Formats: sequence, C-alpha cells, structure tokens
Amino acid sequence: MVRARTAILISGRGSNMRALIAAADDASFPAEIALVVSNVEGAEGLSYAAAAGIPTKVIPHKPFASREAFDGAMDAALVETGIEIVCLAGFMRILSDGFVRKWEGKLLNIHPSLLPSFKGVHVHEQALRAGVRISGCTVHFVVPELDAGPIIDQAHVRVEPGDTPQTLAARVLVEEHKLYPAALKLLAEGKVALRNGQAVFR
Ligand code: GAR
Repeated sequence: MVRARTAILISGRGSNMRALIAAADDASFPAEIALVVSNVEGAEGLSYAAAAGIPTKVIPHKPFASREAFDGAMDAALVETGIEIVCLAGFMRILSDGFVRKWEGKLLNIHPSLLPSFKGVHVHEQALRAGVRISGCTVHFVVPELDAGPIIDQAHVRVEPGDTPQTLAARVLVEEHKLYPAALKLLAEGKVALRNGQAVFR
C-alpha cells in the first residue's frame, strides 16, 4: 500500500497531532506523517513529533513581510518533502487564498464546534453563551472563507449543567482525537473528495 505523505501544521500543544501520529503508527493506516511544521518556536507538539522520529520544521511567521510570503515558505517546505495531504491541527494562522486554493481538496482542519455554528475563536464560550445542549467537533476541507469548508465528519458531546469553557473543551477534545484520524483515513483512502465545492463520499 502506498501511504499518502501527510504534513501536520501546528501552533501549540499538538494533542490532535499526537492522535494523528498514533493512528499513522499502524502500518495499515493509509497516511504516513512525513512532516510537522510549526509557526511557533518551542511549540509543545514539536518535541513530541521529533521524539517520534518525525521531521519537524519551524517557520516563524513574524519575519515575513506578508501572509503570502509566509505561506510561500510553508508551501516550499511541503513540496520539498513530497507532501500530498496537509492537516491543520491547532494551527492558529489564517492562510492566504493562494495557499488554500493550491492545496484545495488536500487540506483539512479540525474545529471544536459543530460547524456551521460557532466559527472563529472562543468557540466553547460561544457555545455556552448560546445555551446549546449539544456541541462537538468538525473536520472539514479548508476553503478561503474561515471555518466554512465542506464537512467531512463530525462528533457530538452533551453540554452538561455547570460546564465551563474548559470542561466543555476537554470533553470535545476526547472526540477530536478520534474524529481527526478517521477523517484523514477517509481522504487518504479516496473515500471522500472535494468536487465542485462539495464533499463527495463513496
Ligand atoms: C483543538 O481543540 C482544535 O480543535 C482547535 O485548537 C485546539 C488545538 O489543540 N482548533 C481551532 O480552534 C481552529 N480554529 P491541540 O494543539 O492540542 O490539537
């Protein structure tokens, strides 16, 4: 089996990255993690990836004059490593339209709400303020509009009385760690594809 060479882009803790690495540790998983890129030096996830024997690269965004220039450097690193699929995992930078279009159909993100509800940041605060009884997480194809891409899969959790943004985030995160590997598997196996702006399953 040829495994899809996959990169993970992180900015911090990297717990979703760890879940993807763990899934890909199984030789029958259809994707291999070939690169981890962080825009933040010293991001917690980097040392874990390095210890797991995965090539890592830090590309700090600050020295770049524009978003496009930073994304160009990331694109070059991905191309150089022969990457086919890119997973955003707590990568807290908005990507330029050019980068997103180039990787369209091969670029995934995980978001800690049931999209299209609660886009952007402070997601669990938004959910609690809205009073929803069910929240969850979403893996979607990335399109230029933030948190708006075609949905590949979702998982739900119940909002419990007395939940804080922290307790809700922790309950959602458990589901994220199962959902992201499952969604990456679907894409790597060709069981989902982005066609004409829609997720098409077979
Ligand atoms: C995760 O909960 C992820 O869904 C969220 O950031 C966290 C990263 O944690 N992403 C977003 O909010 C993107 N809009 P991790 O670094 O431990 O995977």
